[in-house]
Amino acid sequence: PPYTIGVICGSIAASSINRRLANALIKLAPEALQCSFIEIDTLDLYDRDRDGDYPPEAVALKQSILDADGILIVTPEYNRSIPGALKNAIDWASRPYGENALSRKPVGIIGASPGGIGTAVGQQHLKAILSFCNAPMMNEIEAYITFKEEDYAEDDTVTNESTREFLQTYMHTFDDFVRRVLTVLPQQG
Ligand code: FNR
Repeated sequence: PPYTIGVICGSIAASSINRRLANALIKLAPEALQCSFIEIDTLDLYDRDRDGDYPPEAVALKQSILDADGILIVTPEYNRSIPGALKNAIDWASRPYGENALSRKPVGIIGASPGGIGTAVGQQHLKAILSFCNAPMMNEIEAYITFKEEDYAEDDTVTNESTREFLQTYMHTFDDFVRRVLTVLPQQG
């Protein structure tokens, strides 16, 4: 069956290279994966005083996560961790206590930076956070992307053959991973 994937870009910058990588991944996804973005840029800062009266943007975020069969997070590394905007979205998604939308949700993590570290350190932080949120993560293959402008066309099609092959393999592996998790882990709702 087709599966729906919610794609979260950890960067809210209009010029984001991670948004471009996410676009490229969506184009390379197997046909059975229906990918759409879950946007995090309109969320207020998480405030636990609002746990009893969640703002509509946060309600929508949680519903989008619950509705998706899997979540793909494409994120930059900020100061060797994850961007505040992404942490904020995770905090909203994880609350109120006992209503964590991420619990049991299969997640893939990938990210791009201009430098050679390719978001590896930020991804370790993200994995620690998502472990606490009880989200099963794809640990193999790992994907630390050094973003090279010349590897992508203007429409974010991947023009570099080995990069395209790698990203395509990543999406196929993610497809398999989501299927496997859904077979063994009953989902919420
Ligand atoms: C960065 N950048 C960065 N890069 C990196 O490899 N490791 C890091 O720890 C950081 N830290 C960092 C902090 C902050 C606040 C900014 C704004 C940037 C550089 C970063 O990889 C680069 O700006 C990317 O283009 C950010 O991704 P998006 O927003 O283009 O998707």
